[in-house]
Amino acid sequence: MTTTASAARAEGPGEPGPGPDPATFAAFEKAKGFMPVDEGLALYAAARQAGALGLPLLEVGTYCGRSTLLLADAARAAGVTALTVDHHRGSEEQQPGWEYHDPEVVDPEVGRMDTLPTFRRTLHAAGLEEHVVALVGRSPQVAAVWGGRLGLVFIDGGHTDEHATGDYEGWVPHLAPGGLLVIHDVFPDPADGGQAPYRIFLRARESGDFEETSVTGSLRVLTRRP
Ligand SMILES: C[S@@+](CC[C@H](N)C(=O)[O-])C[C@H]1O[C@@H](n2cnc3c(N)ncnc32)[C@H](O)[C@@H]1O
Repeated sequence: MTTTASAARAEGPGEPGPGPDPATFAAFEKAKGFMPVDEGLALYAAARQAGALGLPLLEVGTYCGRSTLLLADAARAAGVTALTVDHHRGSEEQQPGWEYHDPEVVDPEVGRMDTLPTFRRTLHAAGLEEHVVALVGRSPQVAAVWGGRLGLVFIDGGHTDEHATGDYEGWVPHLAPGGLLVIHDVFPDPADGGQAPYRIFLRARESGDFEETSVTGSLRVLTRRP
């Protein structure tokens, strides 16, 4: 099903907010990636809300830029920068022979996945390059050298416990009070999917530092208490 940006109003925290720019929405629908439309619109609503803090919006898990387009659009609207972290070699389930492998994103010279060129083309075609800083590397390594505060942390990187925990422990300390933590692929029922994102969601909830803000499909939004 195709949803138009104007018809698909983002179901964010509180009042439904504005949707993304129609050109961004069209680029999002066309982009390779793993973000369904309803969850993308919820991510966009969270990013618009977080943008009001005037701080960068960070994503872990760029892949080919599908969700990054929405963060870039929200960053443009707020006058902030979207940051997106990925080593661009793919997660476990995206490697050859696995369910989510796409042979189009293999670098034939290196013989390994490289989603960076596709990501750059996606962002360029949407006219959003200037609103995004791509951080190419392993998430915990980038987090360890990151010194600034963030308005939003969106975790959609590796889905093993090691990776999800690394993302949580690396980036959540940088999240400003009032900032939003968004976690993708949260499946309380193991029959629906892997449990690592759910476990970091529980960890955030049980820390007492967050208030649950919204649920859209497998996308959970939490707000850091002041
Ligand atoms: C599920 S995909 C992201 C999907 C994307 N957000 C979208 O909307 O289509 C996960 C991405 O995380 C990256 N990744 C996995 N583990 C990582 C790590 N430890 N550090 C950096 N990137 C990682 C993979 O290379 C992959 O591109």
